[in-house]
Amino acid sequence: MSRVEELLFPRRKERTDERRKERSHGDVRDEVFDRLTLLAVSRLVTQGQFQEVDYSISTGKEANVFRVSGRSGFGALKIYRISNAVFRHFPPWALEDLRRTVGPGSFGRLVFAWAHREFTALKTCEGAGVPVPRPRVQWRNLLLMDLVGSPEGVPAPPLIHAPLPDPKRVLNELVRGVRRMAEKAKLVHGDLSPYNVLLNEGHPVLIDLGQTLSVEHPQARELLLRDALNFARFFRHAGLAVEGEELFHRMGGDRWP
Ligand SMILES: Nc1ncnc2c1ncn2[C@@H]1O[C@H](COP(=O)(O)OP(=O)(O)O)[C@@H](O)[C@H]1O
Ligand SMILES: [Mg+2]
Repeated sequence: MSRVEELLFPRRKERTDERRKERSHGDVRDEVFDRLTLLAVSRLVTQGQFQEVDYSISTGKEANVFRVSGRSGFGALKIYRISNAVFRHFPPWALEDLRRTVGPGSFGRLVFAWAHREFTALKTCEGAGVPVPRPRVQWRNLLLMDLVGSPEGVPAPPLIHAPLPDPKRVLNELVRGVRRMAEKAKLVHGDLSPYNVLLNEGHPVLIDLGQTLSVEHPQARELLLRDALNFARFFRHAGLAVEGEELFHRMGGDRWP
């Protein structure tokens, strides 16, 4: 077994020892790294995509994110869960789309398609100059992207937890990014909250693009408006006088008069 496999899938005794040592990490690994996932991770390691899984950055409902490192620097490995019923969290508009691609049945393939969907959205946004992490590779339920963080490898905090010395500049950059996403990438994020924006050395970066939808979709307007209202509330708390409707239009809402 490679070092990474040892780390991710320890033998029972080691696992118990490790649990005692670092309870939270051990638990996360047990839950996420079922056999199929482990094989997929090994494949990326064999390909040289990264060498080490360093630690867990986040444990979410659908996915866990780990910092990884290797010759190409630090990365963020997002692992979508396949072992429990995550599809309950898929928003209906995305589920329709996925079902069309995958067909009925196969839950695993639905999750792979979901990871692929996020990868494609990241690619499109990167190409359009929207601030998103650069996607590197997607395989089965794994998505490897650049780490958003300091050159030393410290992950950037979500906006909700970041100090905001200059909220106005951050809001302007954010609005520009979302507008570019609608105009150039022709996509609406669909779940843009202060949790899904990282603040990287003062600059907002959009993440979590799995539920992104086309600007042509009948629900696109409603979702962009919801995101705009959310952000207006957030930035009002940070001391700015902003209204949701105004943000909506600045974000590209004039596409739907
Ligand atoms: N490329 C990245 N660089 C640094 N941290 C990341 C990156 N992608 C995700 N994260 C961290 O992982 C968390 C969860 O990622 P996200 O894509 O929002 O998944 P979830 O579906 O669990 O919400 C984020 O809030 C962020 O802290
Ligand atoms: Mg998220």
